[in-house]
Amino acid sequence: MSGPFRVALSGDFRKPDGSPVYPDFDLTPLKEAPGVEMVFLERSNPIEAAQVADIDALILLTARFGRESIHPNGRLALVARFGVGYDTVDVEALTEAGVVLAITPDGVRRPVAVSIVTLLLALTGKLMVKDRLAREGPAGFARRGDHMGVGLVGRTLGSVGIGNIGAELFRLLKPFDMRFIAHDPYADAKLAAELGVELVGLEDVFRRGDFVSISCPLTPETRHLVNAERLALMKPTAYLINTSRGPVVDQKALTRVLQARRIAGAGLDVLEQEPPDPADPILTLDNVILAPHALCWTDQCFAGNGAADVKAVLDVQHGREPRVVVNRPVLATEGWKRRMEDYRRRFGD
Ligand SMILES: NC(=O)c1ccc[n+]([C@@H]2O[C@H](COP(=O)([O-])OP(=O)(O)OC[C@H]3O[C@@H](n4cnc5c(N)ncnc54)[C@H](O)[C@@H]3O)[C@@H](O)[C@H]2O)c1
Repeated sequence: MSGPFRVALSGDFRKPDGSPVYPDFDLTPLKEAPGVEMVFLERSNPIEAAQVADIDALILLTARFGRESIHPNGRLALVARFGVGYDTVDVEALTEAGVVLAITPDGVRRPVAVSIVTLLLALTGKLMVKDRLAREGPAGFARRGDHMGVGLVGRTLGSVGIGNIGAELFRLLKPFDMRFIAHDPYADAKLAAELGVELVGLEDVFRRGDFVSISCPLTPETRHLVNAERLALMKPTAYLINTSRGPVVDQKALTRVLQARRIAGAGLDVLEQEPPDPADPILTLDNVILAPHALCWTDQCFAGNGAADVKAVLDVQHGREPRVVVNRPVLATEGWKRRMEDYRRRFGD
């Protein structure tokens, strides 16, 4: 093989006028990298196979990359997701095709953990209602005693998932003097102990948590993991926070629980349907804080994800493994090793 290392960005990185959707994603290191040719794909969902036929690496935002996106005679080596969720990617198809899937946990770890803290503090501090009261003048001030907040000291924070983001959440909240519990079937027990987190059964997180935060991936096993039965275990004073993926929560069940004021409230950065149906009753509730799957979106989050993806792309161009690979078995295949040798020969290590 000869010629440049061709890198494509999915079309959703650009606005219809061609300007970047996220200017904090610095593409200069890619544009200036010797041997790299960078292109933007036309917007398409899913990505079409013909679009990536002559591409070595794809940086993928929200468009779906399915089995049908793989070109049978293509040369794609890497799909670098901009973020860590990859429920929009057919991992099995990529693995069969010998294509590596990389993600950017370093970019989202702090920003998403901060967004959980934001929801926790806004819910317990009654921020939304107090904002409204302050704008109402004397009538609002007169009612401020009706909206007492909830202190955090000694209260129990439970997390479903203690991975990249879940662990960072506990790190950030260390000075708040709370009790920490978590459920994660694949938990690193040593890390949990270091963070002062007691590992418990799934039901115990719901039973014992004053605040239950969801930080597990969306998989067939976790779809509707937060269901009516588990919500029924929660204390009437407890709050649910979900920043993972909407379908991890059975939203109809949660809506019923919130309508009946069976729990104190919820903070949701993600919904089962995004954007939601305008008639979705969850939009009318005053005991839930909503965000449009964007609470972690900061300049630093986008810069961090972008830098991690650019690094993954340049690593592969030089025949090195990207730092965080989802489908690691690909790395051990002869086909992959040959490709890496070829890239090293052409672009140096
Ligand atoms: N709201 C956003 O904008 C946003 C941004 C980034 C990530 N996310 C979501 O957050 C999720 C977590 O991200 P991460 O970087 O911490 O991923 P991660 O893979 O590092 O951690 C996820 C943890 O969940 C655990 N887990 C898997 N199945 C579980 C189960 N059945 N019960 C409990 N735990 C389970 C895993 O063992 C792992 O430790 C992502 O999958 C993504 O969907 C959302």
